Amino acid sequence: MASITSTLLASWLLFQPSLAVTNPSGFVLSSGFADPRTTYWQGVYYGFATYKQDRGTEPNVHIPVATSRSFSSGWEYSDAVVFSNGPAWATTNPYVWDPMLHVYNASHYVLYYAAQSKVNGPNGEIRHCIGTATSTTVLGTYTPAETALIADGLSLVGSTTTLLAGNNADYTVEGGAMILNPEADNHPILLYVTGNFENTTYQIEYAVAPTNALIPPSGKQYIPNSKPLMTTGTINGQPVYGPGGPCFPRPYEVQTMMTFMSDPNGEDSNGIDASYINRTMRTANITFGADNTLKIV
Ligand SMILES: *[C@@H]1O[C@H](CO)[C@@H](O)[C@H](O)[C@H]1NC(C)=O
Ligand SMILES: *[C@@H]1O[C@H](CO)[C@@H](O)[C@H](O)[C@H]1NC(C)=O
Ligand SMILES: *[C@@H]1O[C@H](CO)[C@@H](O)[C@H](O)[C@H]1NC(C)=O
Ligand SMILES: *[C@@H]1O[C@H](CO)[C@@H](O)[C@H](O)[C@H]1NC(C)=O
Repeated sequence: MASITSTLLASWLLFQPSLAVTNPSGFVLSSGFADPRTTYWQGVYYGFATYKQDRGTEPNVHIPVATSRSFSSGWEYSDAVVFSNGPAWATTNPYVWDPMLHVYNASHYVLYYAAQSKVNGPNGEIRHCIGTATSTTVLGTYTPAETALIADGLSLVGSTTTLLAGNNADYTVEGGAMILNPEADNHPILLYVTGNFENTTYQIEYAVAPTNALIPPSGKQYIPNSKPLMTTGTINGQPVYGPGGPCFPRPYEVQTMMTFMSDPNGEDSNGIDASYINRTMRTANITFGADNTLKIV
């Protein structure tokens, strides 16, 4: 019996070699990890995500964090309390969106994130602002700066430039990630997301810089590619629903590694995604064309 079992096991392993080592769906965390922003630092991949929608009674400023030593597997949620208090400029117990780690050096870490300002616009419109928070350790706890980025010590340099204007038909343009094309003299390419994140129209698109410079010449913007990079459909034979949040954890060394999020479950019978709170992180590898086109491989 034992030998039959081991023979069967041996032949199964022989004929299914890739099954044991690959993760064709690319899902690396089970649920609740939206807008993952990933950074590689000293041998570890760090992922920070938007506040978890189904947390219940936990403060909205508690954002999920996960780490791995291998990009495409081995991700584990961490218990670290990255962010314990909201900043003074934001609403009480603010939702913290899209937190992105920037490593300044081994004892200075910065988290950029978005939250809603306490102060509405002149016509009562809600304002989302970018904030900064700093820590001496990579997993925090981070201390938020008292003012939003625009007026803070960790300040903006120079004026802002529109790289790509959204249009109303897109519903939204968000979740940008910049990458330099190694096959085209480091030509800048901006990935971004359009559509409604609550349904399967959400998708990853990209636009190419009009010249080789990151900042376009006056009067010019990035040029959207005619086809999106990733839509609801399939990748490597696996279903993808409402993909978004593209990010490159090692943008200066391994441009082909991309993390993104999608929903594991898809839509309900009304075409509305009932489970978008489960959106979670996946990995994908991309290739670059000399003509500045991107492909998922
Ligand atoms: C990190 O940068 C800060 C500010 O420039 C500096 O004071 C500190 O010594 C640096 N630490 C390391 C470990 O390089
Ligand atoms: C998705 O949401 C957009 C914006 O609200 C809406 O126009 C569109 O009809 C929705 N599509 C589906 C398939 O639910
Ligand atoms: C989220 O995922 C969990 C585990 O896969 C599942 O039990 C739950 O029903 C999902 N929630 C929604 C709202 O789809
Ligand atoms: C993606 O690239 C990484 C790093 O080069 C590699 O470890 C992984 O196996 C690749 N995955 C796929 C599906 O090609």
